[in-house]
Amino acid sequence: MAGWIDRLRARRKARALTLYRSAISDIDLALQQEATRSTAAYVRKHMYTVQSVSRWRAVHDVAIEQVRLDGLVLEFGVYKARTTRYIAEQRDWHLHGFDSFDGLPEPWRDGFPEAKFSRAAMPEVPENVTLHVGLFEDTLPGFLAALPDPPQPVAYLHVDSDLYSSARTIFDNLADRIVSGTVIVFDEYFNYSGWEEGEFKAFQEFVAARGLGYEYLTYNHEHQQVAVRIA
Ligand SMILES: C[S@@+](CC[C@H](N)C(=O)[O-])C[C@H]1O[C@@H](n2cnc3c(N)ncnc32)[C@H](O)[C@@H]1O
Repeated sequence: MAGWIDRLRARRKARALTLYRSAISDIDLALQQEATRSTAAYVRKHMYTVQSVSRWRAVHDVAIEQVRLDGLVLEFGVYKARTTRYIAEQRDWHLHGFDSFDGLPEPWRDGFPEAKFSRAAMPEVPENVTLHVGLFEDTLPGFLAALPDPPQPVAYLHVDSDLYSSARTIFDNLADRIVSGTVIVFDEYFNYSGWEEGEFKAFQEFVAARGLGYEYLTYNHEHQQVAVRIA
């Protein structure tokens, strides 16, 4: 009996030691805690009265509810089309999805090397979705040039490209069509290590350069999604 209890105690002690070691030396955990703290400080300063949600779908629900413009519905970063399908189903509209399907064109952060999210086959999408396959920088200019006049604004934009450089390409190309009322959802706006250098930075640079105001609509307080509307 005593031997069995001693073995149980020893196992518990070893487990507690392992948990303790990972809690004090796990770099991932430390980086995430640091990122969550800086995100919380940002929320406190810039989004204090914004009502948050706890699911990515809810971020889109709040954002879609705010769409008033009759314009382009665009998604950058389709991958398995999980978000593509969700957005497409919410309204009677047509979504254009952009992706190379070759994965990230350059390394992002730890765990996301170049080519992460590459796919052998195209995802199945509903009929109200058109996919534009290739790098954004190759497909987006031609897509826009082929649209009829007068230029339609962007009504809804989902930025799920992870990388700063890709988000930058999106804003550079869409600049003239992002107007008062355009609703934008970012899949990775904050709350991960390096967030200040990613989609967040591309957006901040864009609004600063164009002299645009914006309003936060909601954010996922357990993750990284944020919705904004251009003022
Ligand atoms: C996180 S995944 C998108 C996830 C997707 N929204 C979903 O819910 O399944 C990011 C995608 O962005 C694409 N991507 C990133 N930068 C790109 C670029 N410059 N041109 C084309 N595709 C790009 C990658 O190929 C990848 O599939």
